[in-house]
Amino acid sequence: MTYSIIGSGAIGTALARQFARTNTPVLIANTRGSGSLAALAGELGSYVRPAELSDALQADTIILAVPFSAIDAVAAAAADWTGKVVIDATNAINFTDFSPADLGGRLSSDIVAQALPGAAVVKAFNTLPAAVLAQEPGSATGKRTIFHSSNDPDASATAAQLIEALGYAAINLGRIDEGGRLQQFGGALMVHSLIKQG
Ligand SMILES: NC(=O)c1ccc[n+]([C@@H]2O[C@H](COP(=O)([O-])OP(=O)(O)OC[C@H]3O[C@@H](n4cnc5c(N)ncnc54)[C@H](OP(=O)(O)O)[C@@H]3O)[C@@H](O)[C@H]2O)c1
Repeated sequence: MTYSIIGSGAIGTALARQFARTNTPVLIANTRGSGSLAALAGELGSYVRPAELSDALQADTIILAVPFSAIDAVAAAAADWTGKVVIDATNAINFTDFSPADLGGRLSSDIVAQALPGAAVVKAFNTLPAAVLAQEPGSATGKRTIFHSSNDPDASATAAQLIEALGYAAINLGRIDEGGRLQQFGGALMVHSLIKQG
């Protein structure tokens, strides 16, 4: 299984820290090219490898840590999304007043899935502030939980495996129109940092 993170901002970097901490190889890419990621890679070590976007999009499992408004641009950067597992960490936000964007009643991950034909989309890593996501997920009291939702059970299992490998506890919330609705920006699970005891 190969992994990549698209986006090297707050969320992309928070997740890259967990890949580095757990010695899990990952490619990371942004709009500015691999050279712009040299300092981050220098800090995090050899498991986090800077890549050009086109190379990062070759990974089996791709984490989208880009603005929701950039989804179409990322979609257009890969010729074929068939068979990819895409973990959607985006939030659809109206930045004028930091309210949920008006999506005409559609769910944000359904819009992401429509933009990536053939990919299996999993919503995850979007409910916690980047500074919380970047913290060590395990402590004496338990493990920080990460919710995930998908219409594809195999993709859900793949995401859960990664979530656990990074040190979090995975909680499967079912389909996008079930859990994804609760996870998306404005949903009931936004900004709740839960610890699985034990
Ligand atoms: N920040 C949080 O606490 C938080 C929490 C939960 C969810 N989220 C969601 O996570 C996503 C990322 O948030 P963020 O705060 O990490 O944003 P950010 O700091 O602004 O970083 C965005 C990253 O996306 C990259 N990017 C933009 N368009 C791209 C494209 N077409 N192709 C490749 N890379 C592209 C940018 O590249 P450059 O570096 O080259 O500009 C940048 O590295 C957003 O959807 C946000 O709503 C954020």
